[in-house]
Amino acid sequence: MPAEPVNGGDPIAPTILLELALETAREAGALLRAKLGAPREVSFKAGHNDLVTDGDRAAEALITERIRARFPAHRILAEEGATGAEVSPYRWLIDPVDGTTNFAHNVPAFAVSVGVERDGQLQAGVVYNPAADELFAASLGHGATLNGQPIAVTTVGQPESALIGCGAISFRRHGRTIKVGRAFWSLTQGCRTTGAAALDLCYVACGRFEVFCGPSLCPWDVAAGALIVQEAGGAVTDFDGNPYHLDRRDILASNGAIHSFALRVAQGKISGRPSLAKRLGGLRKRRPPRSAGD
Ligand code: IPD
Ligand code: CA
Ligand code: CA
Repeated sequence: MPAEPVNGGDPIAPTILLELALETAREAGALLRAKLGAPREVSFKAGHNDLVTDGDRAAEALITERIRARFPAHRILAEEGATGAEVSPYRWLIDPVDGTTNFAHNVPAFAVSVGVERDGQLQAGVVYNPAADELFAASLGHGATLNGQPIAVTTVGQPESALIGCGAISFRRHGRTIKVGRAFWSLTQGCRTTGAAALDLCYVACGRFEVFCGPSLCPWDVAAGALIVQEAGGAVTDFDGNPYHLDRRDILASNGAIHSFALRVAQGKISGRPSLAKRLGGLRKRRPPRSAGD
């Protein structure tokens, strides 16, 4: 396809942006699938648990070359450092492998994540898990799909009927430790993490999870998935309840019906510990009955 004129023209339809996101995510996914099970070069960025592989680098190069060829005037923010133009209302947010640790260990839960925003508003997003051949996609105002079929969040509003995607069991907020894992575990059907925030978000979008609570994430982890949740009818905020913005590190996504509960947990307002009265009540109940001689 020919390159778009530099810095000009009318806004680009979200569906056009989606086409390119789909094309690049599929191609990068095929590249990663071919590497599964094969020897892999793994190196470390900030520490022993911050991995990058030859797959991450090759997938990012593939995606960003395609984007630069088609939209040379667009900005690019990619996890492994690829860049695009310096000034543009459009910015592509790319995680070539979300779930790199899974990928490095041949755990089939990782995804290519490609999102694009215009002046801060997400326009299109694709999350592709090549190992499962699951392709999640959305464009602004056109709904969300999984392998081409429309998807929607659940209507579950009761915590005790909900499954929670939880990126961390605790985190620091306003100088204190919030034990979010304990609350979610004790008040819901349980917590899961796929090890890839982009997939956790898509699991909310397609109704597998009711909530995803993800502290300390980067825009490339969540840009595509956040739009997919919104277009599937869900709610996406930060931990203060403000509409999610790409500048924020914390993201709370849900089916909407359960959002206020999830927000109170993420804010540390519900601990999941039984109240003192309940605990004392439990102790009293467990005491053996007094015998006649007491
Ligand atoms: C990571 C995954 C993981 C999340 C981490 C991210 P990466 O991304 O999304 O689920 O808990 O915070 O850094 O490093 O695999 O691209
Ligand atoms: Ca990531
Ligand atoms: Ca990554």
